[in-house]
Amino acid sequence: MNTTPQRVEHQMTDKGYVPVYTTAVVEQPWSSYSATDHQVWATLFERQQQLLVGRASSEFLRTQRTMGMSAHRIPKFDDLNRMLRAATGWEIIGVQGLLPELDFFEHLANRRFPVTWWIRKPEQLDYLSEPDLFHDLFGHVPLLMNPVFADYMAAYGRGGVKAHAIGPDALASLTRLYWYTVEFGLIREPDGMRIYGAGILSSKGESIHCLDSAAPNRIGFDLERIMRTRYRIDTYQKTYFVIDSYEQLMEATRPDFTLIYARLADQASIPAGNVLDTDAVFNRGTGEGWPTDADV
Ligand code: PHE
Ligand code: CO
Repeated sequence: MNTTPQRVEHQMTDKGYVPVYTTAVVEQPWSSYSATDHQVWATLFERQQQLLVGRASSEFLRTQRTMGMSAHRIPKFDDLNRMLRAATGWEIIGVQGLLPELDFFEHLANRRFPVTWWIRKPEQLDYLSEPDLFHDLFGHVPLLMNPVFADYMAAYGRGGVKAHAIGPDALASLTRLYWYTVEFGLIREPDGMRIYGAGILSSKGESIHCLDSAAPNRIGFDLERIMRTRYRIDTYQKTYFVIDSYEQLMEATRPDFTLIYARLADQASIPAGNVLDTDAVFNRGTGEGWPTDADV
């Protein structure tokens, strides 16, 4: 299980950048983080911390406080794991980069959240094309302290194992759900709309854009609609989906998806920026600045 940690990033090939998948689980090499690594963490942590007051889900801010992550140094996985195990039975495991889908699902189903051990370089503060320690730890881990969200993530892992066996279309539908909830989800709270998606929480630009900009659509959560909706991997999202509560997410995803996958097989996918007559629209995006090339 333990190998010497490596840093595995996308590689440039004659086909452009391709992700490199790695299955190794590694011990967090905490003592090998440089002063620069800790400084990158501190800078990003403080910046997001200030920005997310009044923007992040109150539950995210609460669980983050409880876990005791702070700016002053990169957290130790072992310390976080003591809190996580006690709260919801989750733990984080160190990985070198992206995992193959089935490996990822099996970890989640067993309440293990894979966290990339390495952190971005100072010149990558605002953008990098793959998850690093800041995205994974700052963005994803706090809400695993919430019992309902923790159950949702484990159920998603079991659902992923199943979708993987059913086939690529089922898997694509399920991946869209992850994208529009776990990575880019918004939630309606008594004081207004808030962020719970990790892809937004770890991004300065998108933390502002998703709530303040008139450009994107903000639409009420609708399971099958989301599972048909394409998305962007290279720009801010054209559409965000808004849940009312983590319980709503859990309840909506409780049914067996086998029948849903069969139904979706006959339906066309929806471009990322489209609004349907059936949508509960909180904001109809102006579409300003949207790229015109195809969505994923
Ligand atoms: N209920 C889903 C299924 O049967 C599994 C799932 C749970 C998927 C939670 C996503 C989120 O496949
Ligand atoms: Co992520």
